[in-house]
Amino acid sequence: MSIAFDVRAGDPSRAATPLLAVALPADPAWPRALAALDKRYGGALSRAVKRRDFVGAKDESLLLFAPGAGPERVLLVGTGAAGNVRGLTRAATLAGRKATALGVGRMAFWAADLAEEWLEGSIVGVSLGSWEFRELHSPQPPKLRKKPLAAATLYVPNVKDARPALLAGSAVAEGQRLARRLAMLPGNICTPEYLARTAREIGKRHKMAVKVLGRREMQRLQMGSFLAVAQATTQDPKLIVLEYKGGRRGAAPVALVGKGLCFDSGGISIKPAASMELMKFDMSGAAGVLGAMEAIGRLKPRVNVVALIGSTTNMLGGEAMKPGDVVRASNGKSIEIQNTDAEGRLVLADVLTYAKRYKPQAVVDAATLTGAIVTALGNTTVGVMGNDQDVINEVLAAGRRGGEVGWQLPMFEEYKELIKSDVADIRNIGGRGAGSITAALFLAEFAEGMPWAHLDIAGTAYSDTDLVVMPKGPTGTPVRTFVEFVRERAY
Ligand code: BES
Ligand code: MN
Ligand code: ZN
Repeated sequence: MSIAFDVRAGDPSRAATPLLAVALPADPAWPRALAALDKRYGGALSRAVKRRDFVGAKDESLLLFAPGAGPERVLLVGTGAAGNVRGLTRAATLAGRKATALGVGRMAFWAADLAEEWLEGSIVGVSLGSWEFRELHSPQPPKLRKKPLAAATLYVPNVKDARPALLAGSAVAEGQRLARRLAMLPGNICTPEYLARTAREIGKRHKMAVKVLGRREMQRLQMGSFLAVAQATTQDPKLIVLEYKGGRRGAAPVALVGKGLCFDSGGISIKPAASMELMKFDMSGAAGVLGAMEAIGRLKPRVNVVALIGSTTNMLGGEAMKPGDVVRASNGKSIEIQNTDAEGRLVLADVLTYAKRYKPQAVVDAATLTGAIVTALGNTTVGVMGNDQDVINEVLAAGRRGGEVGWQLPMFEEYKELIKSDVADIRNIGGRGAGSITAALFLAEFAEGMPWAHLDIAGTAYSDTDLVVMPKGPTGTPVRTFVEFVRERAY
């Protein structure tokens, strides 16, 4: 369910809301604008600050109740050091999460001078903080049932000026919620067909052209690499294309490409059983692309965007591809498959080749591509590589703006030795080391001639643990990076 956001100006002290969240920076003085609210609370709010029961630290919160009219509860949330959007976004996320835990159903949010990116960040924060995935649970007995957050009002200096940020924040948040939901859905529900259907719905909502290629069409296009991965699955693999036309007629589009493995068993090079269930998340790149397209459809930036998703499952069976098999991708290159678990790059090889027909101004792909990126960068940093330093720099900047920080890894020529094959043009794994780099170098063989950046999101797409502002589960990365990148390319 999405949240209805609205904005209001003025003093929240008389607002009839079950919860007013007040975001304050480190070492706060009680804001003058909230003097009336403090009074209604018998001075308890300013006292909490003065006595340092609340110091405005990152992830700090304090809940207070008042009798009578006005906000029933006030939740102080700390942003940490003043003057950073990410701190405020984080505080808003915490507020959204607390509101959902309380089950209040609606809330208000106040922060000083809430405008532009500050307002946008707050909306994204509240929306994601309140995100939960309950649709596969049976309903709770009525007494235990908590109201999901359905509406939030943000206090702004000026209602009219707030419109663009209000729309942008809601758009980005909806995109990210969609991405999280898709990544959370299990493989028996979220199939390649399901992703195609989701793309069609987005296309219908926002007047985008949608094209879906199945096994037959891909055979005609000689996508031997993608099809090798799909050889042992009974589900029809899908290459999904979604076209948004917000730019000038005929202008080269930005291409967003996503790995959409609805389940990755590893194939014949089978994965260990422990935690294999996580591999439903192997379509997080595709979820990020679809989430970004939902946001773009709402934002309507003046740029053309084409989304390309390669979706299948990597399964075992008598028909399955085997280590040692040699296949030919649609660009003519032969590939020796030495490990059937390095399947994402096999799928993307043909999707990137297909992207060439759109003559994109830039290509950005996102893929849960390698376990090695988790070793290198952990769960908080996106691995960034590519063949065009300008696009890479733009992606890194977009990620910083969106709070999805990336770090570039090198693609030195010397690493290419590692993916040489005795029997084919290239093999699908490298040696022991530099696994994320050799994977990206493999992709580079199919991105030739296009300015391209690659996001390895295997570490950042999913949180294995429950964090302060992130429940265990899908994060929605890289929706915000994609959206920020595309917005920056608009005219
Ligand atoms: N989807 C996985 C990557 C992955 C692994 C994501 C672990 C999250 C956690 C990918 O298809 C894969 O299996 N990669 C292999 C490549 C290897 C065989 C060269 C990997 O990383 O182990
Ligand atoms: Mn794999
Ligand atoms: Zn995979």
